[in-house]
Amino acid sequence: MSRPRPLRVLILGGTTEARRLAEALAGRPDVDAAVSLAGRTAEPAALPLPVRVGGFGGAEGLAAFLRAERIDRLIDATHPFAARMSANAVAAAARAGVPLLAVERPPWVPGPGDRWTEVDALEDAPAALGETPRRVFLGIGRLHLALFAAAPRHAYVARLIDPPDGPPPLPRLEVIVARGPFDAAGDAALFRDRGVEVVVGKNAGGEGARAKLDAARALGLPVVLARRPAIPARETVATAAEAVRRLGLPPSTDGRG
Ligand SMILES: NC(=O)c1ccc[n+]([C@@H]2O[C@H](COP(=O)([O-])OP(=O)(O)OC[C@H]3O[C@@H](n4cnc5c(N)ncnc54)[C@H](OP(=O)(O)O)[C@@H]3O)[C@@H](O)[C@H]2O)c1
Repeated sequence: MSRPRPLRVLILGGTTEARRLAEALAGRPDVDAAVSLAGRTAEPAALPLPVRVGGFGGAEGLAAFLRAERIDRLIDATHPFAARMSANAVAAAARAGVPLLAVERPPWVPGPGDRWTEVDALEDAPAALGETPRRVFLGIGRLHLALFAAAPRHAYVARLIDPPDGPPPLPRLEVIVARGPFDAAGDAALFRDRGVEVVVGKNAGGEGARAKLDAARALGLPVVLARRPAIPARETVATAAEAVRRLGLPPSTDGRG
């Protein structure tokens, strides 16, 4: 009797969760999986699955890709702030009749000692920094730095995976090029060293990006945190491991389940 063809899985990636999914699915004879990246990072971390890079051309393009590649399952493991891609995934999966599962890390919640001002979107963060000139840490990625040109009285320290291409998007900007995950002690040392007075971030959730919030709490620094963008309803799980379980695969022979 011929074996059933492997389950074809497309993972929308760019996150730790996508990497964990790739590690869990790589090498399984019953799965034929690939990861899709937007291509924002110059040298993305290596993945143990085939990788395709670049946009699909909207929901229509993704639906066509799902059909052409005969994808059986779509897993959206993009960052919680990648709202356009996630909305496209919902629309495309419905159009192509492919089941969609999203891996969505729970958002961070403030605890005792946290001094957070939450704003609805990153666009609201510059105004939330106030009138007094301060030294501001931006842990928000490269693409949104220019928003802070609206608050030029502050001096900024931005941590980025890649240096900005072209001229610096802010007049008073120091760039630190580093790739996470980070830890709280390291981030506290960085904030002390650079004289950081306020921290700006996005409520990404997860472990590696949380370090800046723990460091801010330890040093008593205020934080301006952008809430997550809205994403159309879809089935979600909180972890990559749960997403793998939902694929309903038989236990793998090497004991990884
Ligand atoms: N936003 C963040 O804070 C953040 C942080 C860490 C990592 N990331 C990762 O960076 C990537 C881009 O994020 P974003 O916020 O710029 O997304 P976005 O605004 O939601 O997406 C904009 C467009 O980029 C393309 N795209 C996004 N993710 C893609 C993927 N995984 N594969 C193929 N095309 C993709 C799509 O183009 P088409 O419409 O042409 O298909 C999408 O419409 C994502 O993979 C995300 O997981 C984002």
